[in-house]
Amino acid sequence: MTGFPKGFLWGGAVAAHQLEGGWDAGNKGVSIADVMTAGDNETAREITDGIIPGKNYPNHEAIDFYGHYKEDVKLFSELGLKCFRTSIAWTRIFPNGDEDEPNEAGLKFYDDLFDELLKYNIEPVITLSHFEMPYHLVKEYGGWRNRKLIDFFVKFAEVVFKRYKDKVKYWMTFNEINNQTGLNEWGLFTNSGILVKPGEDAEKVMYQAGHYESVASAMAVQIGHAINPKFEIGCMLAMGPTYPASPDPKDVLKAQRAMEANYWFADVQCKGKYPNWLKRYFERKDFNLDITLADLDVIKAGVVDYIGFSYYASHVIKADKNEPDDYMTPTKNHEVKNPALVRSDWGWEIDPIGLRYALNWFSDRYDLPLFIVENGLGAFDKVTEDGKIHDDYRIDYLRKHIEQMRLAVDVDGVDLMGYTPWGFIDLVSAGTGQMDKRYGMIYVDKNDAGEGTLDRSKKDSFEWFHKVIETNGTDL
Ligand code: BG6
Repeated sequence: MTGFPKGFLWGGAVAAHQLEGGWDAGNKGVSIADVMTAGDNETAREITDGIIPGKNYPNHEAIDFYGHYKEDVKLFSELGLKCFRTSIAWTRIFPNGDEDEPNEAGLKFYDDLFDELLKYNIEPVITLSHFEMPYHLVKEYGGWRNRKLIDFFVKFAEVVFKRYKDKVKYWMTFNEINNQTGLNEWGLFTNSGILVKPGEDAEKVMYQAGHYESVASAMAVQIGHAINPKFEIGCMLAMGPTYPASPDPKDVLKAQRAMEANYWFADVQCKGKYPNWLKRYFERKDFNLDITLADLDVIKAGVVDYIGFSYYASHVIKADKNEPDDYMTPTKNHEVKNPALVRSDWGWEIDPIGLRYALNWFSDRYDLPLFIVENGLGAFDKVTEDGKIHDDYRIDYLRKHIEQMRLAVDVDGVDLMGYTPWGFIDLVSAGTGQMDKRYGMIYVDKNDAGEGTLDRSKKDSFEWFHKVIETNGTDL
């Protein structure tokens, strides 16, 4: 057993809108995350028409990393992080998204943050768009259903690539770009700023938006490489493998199709072309999408350097009794529970072996380096009488996933660059807007009602992960 390679990127992951707060500081514009209220396990987050006084918008303050980043980065260094994955809030740089000139105050904030990280030898890993596009682009342009968004995004990418070319090496274009394939309101809005209009075909809109994003991503890859050939620019996908509910070939085919419908973005971003099944599907559905030959050339020339992905859970799917031959999406209502697995408090199926499966699946299919940029357990934490949080359940989750990662590297020969557990400092949940759905090794004193001191403290998992990093994953 050789273990994890030297220079393995042990780190932690967050996203700007989920921890920064300072939603209107330094001329920042309103982002799509700023118009989403708090929900919970049963109640979906509401997307309001602008900011409505009296509503609870948890991302406005979040954990105020904007005001606490120096003390937080010091803690990250105590944890031993080699890298820190966050995103640049597009609205700090271009508050509305369509300005000619960037906002200097926003650029300066990230200069200061990156300098602080580099002071402690923590490598920044940056996502360009993580569920936080300017809300103005939704209201004025209809979000990513509009081709003009390509230019706005590419301009944003070029500005930050140039500004941080000597501070940031690792980039990703769009976070979990494939969430929208589920066609639900949350996925379409957070990925693409799309609110489906009455009479509109959500599926067609999703494919159009996904195409424009794929072109924008490929352009960004090319521009980034021209600015600094040492840049490593990846895509970012939400990976949750879909297993067939039984050996019935219909279920097996159904599971295969669910994977294809979910991961076509990876085909486009990693292979530089649309898969044949999807071209046929567009024809069959008569979508008549705006996909030009020039776009296809851009996509071909802008393939990514690595695959970044999140991994939390797996899924199981069952075919309909009379499954139509041309069926493709959506798949959500065919999901069934996996009897072999237990679920988190939010119903996410915990499946460490699925991570090894996912690593092999990506590796076999695309033959690119992989980077696990999110993984973790959302759980209710309790502060016990000694004032501490004994989160052995979180340690257990992470340990089992790292064990599988190690098997994938050692036994299967997967080329894995790094591992950044999600929300290693407590932050606002993207799905529910809760604070009490916690992933952190660092506790932040704030609850779902927005009450708390914002004080930071170390959970048991903090010392454990520190040891994991120090021993390069050998002492789990
Ligand atoms: C991914 C996102 O969907 O999973 C993160 O990239 C998100 O932004 C994370 O926070 C966990 O999901 P949730 O809904 O528990 O916050």
